[in-house]
Amino acid sequence: MIDPTLTPAWSLLSQRSEVIEPIHVLVDQDRAQMRGRIGDLDVDFSRQRVDEEVWKSLEQLVEQCGVLQWRDRMLTGIHVNTTEDRAVLHTALRLPRSAKLVVDGVDVVPQVHDVLDRMSILARKVRSGEWVGFTGKRIESVVNIGIGGSDLGPAMAYQALHAYSDPQLSLHFVSNVDPADLVETLTLCEPETTLFIIASKTFTTAETMSNAQHARAWVQAASDGNSDSVVDKHFVALSTNEKAVEEFGIDPKNIFGFWDWVGGRYSMDSAIGLSTMIAIGPEQFTAMLDGFHTVDRNFAQEPWETNIAMQMGSLAVWNRDFLDIETTAVLPYSQYLSRFPAYLQQLTMESNGKSVRRNGESVDYNTSAIYWGEPGTNGQHSFYQLLHQGTSVVSCDIVVVARAQVGLGNQQDILVANALAQASVLSLGLNANQLAESGVPAELVPHKVMPGNRPVTVIMFPELTPHMLGMLISLYEHSVFVQGVIWGINSFDQWGVELGKKVATGITEAFESRDLVKNFDPSTQESIESYLQLRRSY
Ligand code: F6P
Repeated sequence: MIDPTLTPAWSLLSQRSEVIEPIHVLVDQDRAQMRGRIGDLDVDFSRQRVDEEVWKSLEQLVEQCGVLQWRDRMLTGIHVNTTEDRAVLHTALRLPRSAKLVVDGVDVVPQVHDVLDRMSILARKVRSGEWVGFTGKRIESVVNIGIGGSDLGPAMAYQALHAYSDPQLSLHFVSNVDPADLVETLTLCEPETTLFIIASKTFTTAETMSNAQHARAWVQAASDGNSDSVVDKHFVALSTNEKAVEEFGIDPKNIFGFWDWVGGRYSMDSAIGLSTMIAIGPEQFTAMLDGFHTVDRNFAQEPWETNIAMQMGSLAVWNRDFLDIETTAVLPYSQYLSRFPAYLQQLTMESNGKSVRRNGESVDYNTSAIYWGEPGTNGQHSFYQLLHQGTSVVSCDIVVVARAQVGLGNQQDILVANALAQASVLSLGLNANQLAESGVPAELVPHKVMPGNRPVTVIMFPELTPHMLGMLISLYEHSVFVQGVIWGINSFDQWGVELGKKVATGITEAFESRDLVKNFDPSTQESIESYLQLRRSY
């Protein structure tokens, strides 16, 4: 097990960070060329705080931490998710039909395409109106009930690919156990024309199961007791747990399976993407898979110089561990990518928000940055003040889509101008001399100084097509992988979320049986009593 801090590259980077720290990045002609391209996806690293030496050392860090070997293990189905003893093969979900990949003795490619084919049949039936509800009317609303990876990817993709979505269908995403989520969604739907997709890898997740049961009761109540066929007509499931789905009452022919080698946060291109396929159609879904696969190939085959995910992942480590930057803002300059930061939060932080290495030792270095963000330009009128002049340095990923899918005068130009302006200002800043020279009164100069030197990556592509969305997501997936390998952690488990679920179940039980309240710490006991008191007084 390689401790990254003991590699020669780590030492070199540590030394170099002391030299780089005080240097202000000034983008000249040479730096401006620090960008990578995969097809139409342009990734501009010229505003990152690195020089030739750092760049070389990052390449060595990748090599010395065994990223290439771990990548090959992952791509060939070796169980790299060691704590759960599972392969990690989201890349197999986008392999072409002609490919072959034998994992644990089975070629997984035919299995993947079999599910995709079944999804396509269902998607076509819903889109054409052939699939009808209990009164014989076509489906008009599709409600995806799921949470975490069974929600964030599909919800983000629906918004991102709005221009490609069938206008005859409205899609909704219910994730929260807050009753408001389902109740408010149902007010927008009619039982006879609504198809529910129950998306849960485990089919045991409390929030999803509870919402699914209420949704089933809602349709059944509207159907005058014709309950069995109602579930057949209005419910499909996406899960690896067929037994639990059948117990819920969903017909096996309406189950779209996937495999334990697809992690929740890596599952939007598996059966979990059914809502996406219904919205945009099987052909465009295939285009999205091709986009994923294009970047997979770059990651699998290209050397460091042209391997964009390797570069992006190691730069994230540089920013986190050597420049001590704690958070990364994801700033899409596209309204259609509003949910992209939320999607990335799970991908990055559930994957790499860990402090124990694969061998059980505690890390003595930083792991995942905190990811957050909002679409520009809204963020500019809110938290960008801190980005520009706050005491915390935040690295920024600015995502720019060149061509708008809707036109409104020159608004797209204004949007992109803002994105490029922010990238420039975050990086260059404005110093006291420049301000004084431009006539700013002396007492205001310190208030107007912009330190700049915020590391910025600008990702730009021509249009938000399904293919480009697939490329963008795959790029981040592999960048997260590279970071995890360098840090020596398992990016594919999530043990940290378990305890909270267990305690929540206990507290729910304590709400009903008061003698259980004593099982909790005094502070929680007080909170339980307060809640019960308040609940009663309404
Ligand atoms: O609680 C975290 C988590 O396990 C995520 O990793 C996962 O994406 C989400 O819950 C939903 O899980 P499931 O798809 O099994 O309902």
